[in-house]
Amino acid sequence: MKILAVETSCDETSAAVIDDAGSVLDVETISQISIHKKYGGVVPEVASRNHTLVILPTIQKVLEKFSKNSDLKIALNNIDALAVTVGPGLIGSLLVGVNTVKTLGYLSGKKIYPINHLEGHIYANYIRKSDVEFPALVLIVSGGHTSLVKMLGHGKYETLGQTLDDAAGEAFDKVARLLGLSYPGGPEIEKLAKKGNPNTYNLPIAMEKSKDLNFSFSGLKTAVLYLVKKTKNIEKKDLCRNFQDVLIQSLLLKTAKAASIHKPKSLLLSGGVINNQALRKRFKEYFSKNFKNTRLYLPDRSLCTDNAAMIGVAAHYKSLKSPGKNWYDVDVNPNAKIDE
Ligand code: KG4
Ligand code: ZN
Repeated sequence: MKILAVETSCDETSAAVIDDAGSVLDVETISQISIHKKYGGVVPEVASRNHTLVILPTIQKVLEKFSKNSDLKIALNNIDALAVTVGPGLIGSLLVGVNTVKTLGYLSGKKIYPINHLEGHIYANYIRKSDVEFPALVLIVSGGHTSLVKMLGHGKYETLGQTLDDAAGEAFDKVARLLGLSYPGGPEIEKLAKKGNPNTYNLPIAMEKSKDLNFSFSGLKTAVLYLVKKTKNIEKKDLCRNFQDVLIQSLLLKTAKAASIHKPKSLLLSGGVINNQALRKRFKEYFSKNFKNTRLYLPDRSLCTDNAAMIGVAAHYKSLKSPGKNWYDVDVNPNAKIDE
């Protein structure tokens, strides 16, 4: 089944076409980072307005490339079904993608696969590989979420733990802002951390001694704030290095704890923070040494942040089991949970 997928849950407008085998034929993503940079974060109203401006040209572009025809109606005839992110995310942003896809569904009569954004992030791991064995353990670390999820099969999830306050990406963004770095903070902190000394500062490892599988990063953010306040000439690159190290360590500790309890055959990392090369390296080293029976999966770096390819691939796996929904049964769900 050929699927046209759309993602607009935050500040990326993205469309992709997936073929019958679940391979990504094309993906087009327009990022609004340069627009939101001057505000230091995503402004929801501005995000939805900009989605409205570029959603149709983005869809047009992938369809045109795929069907080699600039007539949207003819191009759409070559597609079998539609997919769209329905949540979680910013309601105004989600509405743009969902209403656009519902309209295409209404006009063409094609079925729609409503996709959970976090499920999309998980399926970024399936873009190049399809040999994941279950049960799998999934660590989702994005700007809005930090969760450990047990995946028992396609579409079968059980949340094991999540952040009690800030998400890991949010902590990167907030600490970056505190240090006067630009948005999004993750890549900026990573850049500085590469040159930083790991031993200058001594930030705490969040939830190091807690017994559950939850996370918490607001204490770490506050620790950075106090350190900056009391230190005269703070060395930003050393602080970035220390912050990044302890944040990664806290993600690693909880993931390792979950892996010891649940003994997964696969470990899937997903979400924008997985872009971080230090994190990728640390997880690879640690799991190849300590969990030899668990295979680690990492999406390509370019597919860790929001994109429609991962949404289309998630829809592909749903299409093997279900026919999709009619346009009038599809709605946004800004607070959608992965295991409901
Ligand atoms: O998954 P994503 O694109 O959007 C959400 O669904 O939230 O993730 C965006 C988050 C931002 O907080 C950003 O700072 C973080 O991912 N991020 C990174 C890196 N690249 C993006 N965090 C750490 N290191 C990176 N290289
Ligand atoms: Zn995301």
